[in-house]
Amino acid sequence: MQWDSSLYQTRHDFVFKYGEGVLELLEPQNGERVLDVGCGTGELTARIAAAGARAVGLDSSPDMIAAARKRFADIEFVHADAADFAFDESFDAIFSNAALHWVKDREGAVACMARALKPGGRFVVEMGGRGNIAQLTAAIDAAVLAITGAHAEHGRYYPALGEYSALLEKYGVEVTGAWLFDRPTQLAEGSLGLRNWIAQFEREVLKDCTEAQRAAIDAAVEDALRDTLFSDGHWFADYRRLRIVARKI
Ligand code: BEZ
Repeated sequence: MQWDSSLYQTRHDFVFKYGEGVLELLEPQNGERVLDVGCGTGELTARIAAAGARAVGLDSSPDMIAAARKRFADIEFVHADAADFAFDESFDAIFSNAALHWVKDREGAVACMARALKPGGRFVVEMGGRGNIAQLTAAIDAAVLAITGAHAEHGRYYPALGEYSALLEKYGVEVTGAWLFDRPTQLAEGSLGLRNWIAQFEREVLKDCTEAQRAAIDAAVEDALRDTLFSDGHWFADYRRLRIVARKI
């Protein structure tokens, strides 16, 4: 997945705004070392640092890491894959918001994160959970098939609560709290919100489409979802979140 950090920053800032609820669960403490996995442009990493923690942001997108370093020059940002990283010094806590559903090697990511935590270290994560954007995905798949004849491949991972908890426990991380809940999320820019979202997050699926095909896909998805996901001049994405609080044994 290719990321555009400026679009992410301006049109999709709800991603890190919602992350503030996850930060409350983390309760970063003065002096502790915290890793933010999938830090994007670094806003939440900076909030963790502002609480007095020694925050480190990690992201696999060079564009996101460059933007984060430019915005927050005194914070450490590392360019690495969430499923293939190691640090010399371990962490008191691992935090991640709206990132782990993008990681193809989900078990590799859990193994890396578990290894990076100190015994007793906290793991506080929010990601898309089972059923996340089910309506959106079904409408996009149907439109892509009708207009291009191709089957869309999204490659994202939205685990069930029990599935992700079991994976963590396999790597010695004990789950102490877990929630799966609907969180319809208002998209920016009114009636343009859904096509903007598609342009940002379905780039891979649409990369071989002509402009005319893209416009036809946008229109077909909007028509399919207007009754259920458009209200009072705004589009809402049918997000479902999985929140996990856990501790390394
Ligand atoms: C999510 O945060 O759940 C998400 C965002 C963009 C595309 C797919 C899922």
